[in-house]
Amino acid sequence: MKTEIARDGETAGRLAGKVAVITGAASGMGRAASALFVREGARVVLVDISAEGAERAAKEIDPQGGKTLAFAADVADSARMHAAVERSIEHFGAVDILFNNAGYPMEFTAIEDVDERLYQRVMDVNVKGVFVGSQAVVRHMKERRAGCIINTSSVAALRPRPGLTAYCAAKSAVITMTKALALELAPHQVRVNCIAPGATDTPMLPGFIGLKNDFEKGRAMYIGSIPLGRLATPQDIAAGALYLASDDAAFVTGEVLTIDGGRGV
Ligand SMILES: NC(=O)c1ccc[n+]([C@@H]2O[C@H](COP(=O)([O-])OP(=O)(O)OC[C@H]3O[C@@H](n4cnc5c(N)ncnc54)[C@H](O)[C@@H]3O)[C@@H](O)[C@H]2O)c1
Repeated sequence: MKTEIARDGETAGRLAGKVAVITGAASGMGRAASALFVREGARVVLVDISAEGAERAAKEIDPQGGKTLAFAADVADSARMHAAVERSIEHFGAVDILFNNAGYPMEFTAIEDVDERLYQRVMDVNVKGVFVGSQAVVRHMKERRAGCIINTSSVAALRPRPGLTAYCAAKSAVITMTKALALELAPHQVRVNCIAPGATDTPMLPGFIGLKNDFEKGRAMYIGSIPLGRLATPQDIAAGALYLASDDAAFVTGEVLTIDGGRGV
């Protein structure tokens, strides 16, 4: 995936000239997608609850500057997400792609032990975050009669596991929201899809795998259940996001792209 320089001096690539807002961009899949999108010619607003993390990722991805912008926001905060979109339009002129990727995990917990505040946070970040992020960008995309929204669900929504009830429900809501919004926005030529990653090697993983005290054992057991024999990498997920964001997926909307090495089959 080499970035080429076009004759007119503009950067070429599968996202040449596009502007993307990516949430949860300081780490894991969001960071990998930010780096890949920049390599493919996009300019990217890296949104994260960690201001420092977003700044660091933006600088590492784009040391010269000009192709990235860091923006601190909690995706569950509607005003901040509207501000992120406004900032992108002000700085880069548009938002072509919104990747609602930020998520909030939970560890395996019996339902009777789930604190109501944990339940609320899981819902606020994973569900409300996708909703208000989309709300913030939709008027702009409708006016331009173009745009693409990508949401991050999880294999946990398709094949729920015990002990993660709130998280599974939240990620399931993301799939239905994706499909409903895809239908609502199709007449405006705005596409909406989501990705359902399987276990992915990011800082979020240990909580999901369980056996926190013996992560290596948990990890090996988990890998044993994946037909392709390894965990997903953040780059595997970024590649799926690139496909959905690019014109290669121009006729794809309302879809769930599962990236899990065959575990969900
Ligand atoms: N890692 C996995 O195994 C896995 C599997 C399926 C789905 N997912 C989902 O993939 C997405 C990305 O996860 P990851 O594994 O890359 O995690 P990660 O922990 O590597 O990165 C998550 C990033 O999101 C940021 N973030 C957290 N809450 C936020 C908020 N309220 N507002 C803005 N930013 C916030 C964090 O600061 C962090 O930079 C999440 O939606 C997650 O639920 C992860």
